[in-house]
Amino acid sequence: MKKIIVAFFMAFALLNCSNDETDSPEPNNTLAVPFASAASSTTDTSFQANWVLVPDAESYLIDVSINNNFSEMLAGYNALLVEGNTVAVTGLSQAVTYYYRVRAKRGTEISNNSNVITVKTTGVQPEEPEDPTFLKVKVNALANPFFVGVAVKSNQLTEGSAYDTVLKNEFSSITAEYEMKMNPISTGSGTYNWVATDRIVKYGNDNGINVHGHALVWHNAVPDWLSSFSGTDEEFALEVKKYITDVVTRYAGKIKSWDVVNEAVNDGGNTRNTIFLQKMGANYVKDCFQWARDAANAAGDTDLLLFYNDYGTSTNIPKQNEVFAIVDDLKASNLIDGVGFQMHNTYLSPSKAQIETDINRAVAKDLKVHVSELDIQVNQNNDISFLTDERSLAQKAKYKEIVSIYNALPVENKYALTVWGFKDNESWIPFSTDLNHPGDDWPLLYNNKFELKKAHTGFLEGLD
Ligand code: G3I
Repeated sequence: MKKIIVAFFMAFALLNCSNDETDSPEPNNTLAVPFASAASSTTDTSFQANWVLVPDAESYLIDVSINNNFSEMLAGYNALLVEGNTVAVTGLSQAVTYYYRVRAKRGTEISNNSNVITVKTTGVQPEEPEDPTFLKVKVNALANPFFVGVAVKSNQLTEGSAYDTVLKNEFSSITAEYEMKMNPISTGSGTYNWVATDRIVKYGNDNGINVHGHALVWHNAVPDWLSSFSGTDEEFALEVKKYITDVVTRYAGKIKSWDVVNEAVNDGGNTRNTIFLQKMGANYVKDCFQWARDAANAAGDTDLLLFYNDYGTSTNIPKQNEVFAIVDDLKASNLIDGVGFQMHNTYLSPSKAQIETDINRAVAKDLKVHVSELDIQVNQNNDISFLTDERSLAQKAKYKEIVSIYNALPVENKYALTVWGFKDNESWIPFSTDLNHPGDDWPLLYNNKFELKKAHTGFLEGLD
C-alpha cells in the first residue's frame, strides 16, 4: 500500500514541477528596444527609415517629426505600424531636417523608444517669398525693372543697423551722399583718403547692391588744396585728370556708373563759371568725360556708364537746352551713357508734362535716365510746422507720379531711380541755407522714426 502512495506523490510532483527545458516558452522576456539605423535613399521629398529587427517582435511603430523632441509628429507617421525593419517616409519638404525613432511591438506589448536618427532631405530651401511692399521687390517683379537707389553715408552701413536692414530689403542701388566727392577723397596732389568710399563700395559689392559714383567733378566739392592751387592752368588740368584717372581706376568693375560732371550749367542757362571752366577752358566737361572713359577702358572696365548730372531742368528751359547742348557734344564723341536728373522737387512742381518733356530729351538720344536725387519738399514756403495730412497726400501723389513716369520709360533707357536719403530729419533740405529753405521739411519716404510714410505707398502705387 505504502508503495502506491509514494508512486502517486512522485507522479504528482513530476507533473507539477516546472522544467525550463520541457515547458513551452511563455514570453516572460521583456521585448527588446530596437536599434534605429541610418536613413537611406534620401531625396528632396523622401527617405527610407531603417532599424534592426528585434527577436519576438511582431511589428514596429515608427514616429517621424521635424523636431528632435517629437513634440509634433509628421502627418501619417505618428506610431505608424510597420512590418519588417524599414519604411519609406514620403511627402517631405526639401532641405529640411527630420527625426525618426521606432518601438517594437508584440501583441499588446510595446518596447521603449529606440535611439533617434536625424536625416535632412536634399535640395535647397525654397526662397522665402519676398515682401512685395519692399520697393525693390515690387520693381524686380516688373517686366522691365530698374535700380531703386538711395543716398547713403558710410556710417550707416553697419551690419544689422536699421539702415542696413532697410537697404537690403528695399534698395538695389546706393549713391554716396557726399563721401565720393572730390573734397572728402582728395587730400592733396596724388594723395587720397579712400576709407569711406572703400566702405561704401565694399558694402554694395558684398551685398549685390549697385554702386553709383557721385561725383567726380563738382564745383561745390573742390578740396581746399585744389581751390588754392598755385600752379599753371595746365598743371591744374593735369591734377584733375590724375584725380579722375586714379579714382575711376581704383573702382573699375566695382562702381558701375559715375556722375562725371555735376551741375556745369547755371540757372541762367549758361556754362557755370566754376574753377574748372576758369582754369581748364570751355572744353573741360568733355575732357573730364574723356579721362574717365580712358581710365575705365585702360582698367578693362568697358561697361562703366558715364553720366552728366544736373538739377532744375524740367522747369528751366534755358538750362535744359544748355544741358542737352553739352549732352549732344558728349554724345557726338561717344563719351556719355546717361543723364542724371536730380529731381529735388516739391509737392507742386514740376508738373508731369514738364518732367516728361525733360526726361524724354534723353530718351530721344538713346541715353540712360537716372532720377538721381529724388526728394519732394512739402514746406518750401515754410507755411506749415508739421507734415499735415493734406501735404502728406500731395507728396504721395507726386512720388506716385514721378515713379509712374520713370516706370513707363523704354527698358533701354531705364537705369535707376534714387531717393536722396532715408529719413526726413536726415535730409539736406530742412532749414537748408544752400537751398534758401527757411523752415523744416519732410521730403523723403521714411519719417524720423524710420516709419513708412504715405510717400512710400505713393512710390509703390507708381509701379502699378
Ligand atoms: O559728416 C561730417 C561731419 O563729421 C563734419 O563734422 C561736418 C563738418 O562740416 O561735415 C559733415 O559732412 C557734411 C555732409 O554733408 C554730411 O552731413 C558735409 O560737411 C556737407 O558738406 C555735406 O553736404 C552734402 C552736400 O551735397 C555737399 O557735399 C549733403 O549732405 C548732400 O545732400 C548734398 O547733395 C547734393 C548733391 O551732391 C548734388 N546735388 C545737390 C545736392 C544737395 O546739395
